[in-house]
Amino acid sequence: MCNQCDKPKFYITTPIYYPSGNMHIGHTYTTVAADTMTRFKKMTGYDAYFLTGTDEHGQKIERKAAEAGVTPKQFVDKIVAETKDLWKLMNIEYDDFIRTTDERHEKVVQKIFKQFYDQGDIYKSEYEGQYCAECEAFWTPTQLKEGNLCPDCGRPCETAHEESYFFRMSKYQDWLIDYIETHPDFIQPPSRANEMLNNFLRPGLQDLCVSRTSFKWGVPVDFDPKHVVYVWIDALSNYITALGYGSDDPSLFNKYWPADVHLVGKEIVRFHTIYWPIMLHALGLPLPKQVFGHGWLLFGNDKMSKSKGNVVYPAPIVERYGVDALRYYLMREMPFGADGNYTNEALLTRMNADLVNDLGNLVSRTVAMIEKYFGGEVPAPGAEDESDIALRERFEALPGIVEKHMNELQFSLALAEIWKLIGDCNRYIDINQPWVLCKSEEGLPRLKNCMYYLAECIRAIAVHIYPTMPSTPERIFEQIGVTESELKTWESVQKFGGLKSGTKVKKGAALFPRVDIKKELEFLYGGKDEEPAKKEEKPAKKQEKKAEKKAELPEGLASFDDFMKIKLIAAKVIACEKVAKSDKLLKETLDVGGGVTRTVCSGIAKYYAPEELVGKTVVMVANFAPRKMAGEVSEGMLLCAEDENGVRLLTVDGSVAPGSEIG
Ligand code: MSP
Repeated sequence: MCNQCDKPKFYITTPIYYPSGNMHIGHTYTTVAADTMTRFKKMTGYDAYFLTGTDEHGQKIERKAAEAGVTPKQFVDKIVAETKDLWKLMNIEYDDFIRTTDERHEKVVQKIFKQFYDQGDIYKSEYEGQYCAECEAFWTPTQLKEGNLCPDCGRPCETAHEESYFFRMSKYQDWLIDYIETHPDFIQPPSRANEMLNNFLRPGLQDLCVSRTSFKWGVPVDFDPKHVVYVWIDALSNYITALGYGSDDPSLFNKYWPADVHLVGKEIVRFHTIYWPIMLHALGLPLPKQVFGHGWLLFGNDKMSKSKGNVVYPAPIVERYGVDALRYYLMREMPFGADGNYTNEALLTRMNADLVNDLGNLVSRTVAMIEKYFGGEVPAPGAEDESDIALRERFEALPGIVEKHMNELQFSLALAEIWKLIGDCNRYIDINQPWVLCKSEEGLPRLKNCMYYLAECIRAIAVHIYPTMPSTPERIFEQIGVTESELKTWESVQKFGGLKSGTKVKKGAALFPRVDIKKELEFLYGGKDEEPAKKEEKPAKKQEKKAEKKAELPEGLASFDDFMKIKLIAAKVIACEKVAKSDKLLKETLDVGGGVTRTVCSGIAKYYAPEELVGKTVVMVANFAPRKMAGEVSEGMLLCAEDENGVRLLTVDGSVAPGSEIG
């Protein structure tokens, strides 16, 4: 709890990145996740603090700077400035950016190192081992890949000898095993905890080399200046030095430590869940509440990395499609914790399907209808029917579901739930058919409800998407006329009905422009324009060329986009009869969810007796314009398969709720 503002506190960190080259979409992924979580926590009443930064010391940077003919500091300064620009472009709002070259950090690292030495946790010895200069890591024989190759980057390792200080990790091994076993939330996802226990802790911890003499670019060990502090004590302690631990002003440390969550890529879970807890324990400090090891963004099944040169950079994507489209894609496409392939085609497909078709269309359709039917003023709703009740209940259940997923860092599930409400709204329009309601006086009360319910849901959707897509909600609020800040808050979407009737809507530009995927892929990889990603990514080019080929459809074939235009739902036949004026048609009454029924006429009277259909859950095209058939209005179509023996209806295997989407 924050003692000044009475809010619960939440401290979240990203790893500090190596500024050995520019940050790519993999680093952006973690940083966007941390930013999304921070915004969510701030929105839901927390005093949240978000730290990111750069890990600037080591042999690799020293070498790269020498190659570039500049000092290491000049080298990292340039990349740090570019990193900060990139985070600005990505709409990242961190509270602090720590650099391991900051004086505030270096001074405290020296103090920590000395304390470990004085306590007997660190001792001086000689190290001999297999060393990867690229990754700056020694590897044990069991960790090395065949041929003496580094398990991380695949480069050959060399035998290295050096006078070094070592941290007695083994001393704390049993304590840590017990801690992990009794704190099941500490390492997430849980599979990573088992990996740490089985692969590293139970076989026995090696003491850790914590100083080097073979290079100079590091924090000097003040009592033995030949040595510089070697990677992990320097890097990991950023999470507390940034808060002022060990300084004259530890107020932030007292307020925010322990961290609520460290977000880290899966390859550095080991350092954060073994070395870091042991270091903290040796300092007498509490451990972070959680370390979450997320998966990698892959390119053609390979980890994207600067050293492999198969990298995608975010800036060109943001400039072309907007920052929120990229943030949405990163948080929506793969479950946090799992690996996933990055492709431009998947990004563009999500843009068209989720952002343009689902969200964008819902907003523009609703605003256009309110303008057309009510002169642009949101009408006052009256008594609810079942479809209103169903929509309102979804609205009111959403914050709780989203909060649960977000607290488990399941960004993609949280977004999927928000998109379910968007889908429900679009279906609510199809079911209520405002274009029919507007034709008669009796339809007016329903029409009013429809417009109010849609506008109110759109308000809630705008609030919910804010953490992931911070620059979109204002554009939505503008269109549905929400100006009051109290209607943009998390509290305001806990209960349905905040939007005032009489609110003036205002049609605006499309939220997201539809992209022609084929043309865009051509643009990105066809060599027409300067495309930084293109020049730096040969494997990407190959992969996208494949995608491009797929997009060049022979005539007569439908694209994914075409398919997405057809709305298929599961509908339950609740009544069925013959159509009097026809010997081919049956008229089915269908439960389409939300307490709503629709009537469909199908040419299957020769193949089914009416009573045979009752109770079946069938597949219905839900977004056909209504049409007259033998004097009856048919509001959709049921899918059937036909062969020489006749026609059979497509039904759903098992039971699903009427109205469930098919696709
Ligand atoms: N400097 C260390 C971390 C020290 S934290 C005390 C480091 N830096 S790094 O720049 O190599 O990587 C930083 C983070 O970026 C890691 O969590 C890593 O997993 C993440 N990513 C780098 N490439 C990535 C992908 N392709 N996909 C997802 N994340 C990846 O390690």
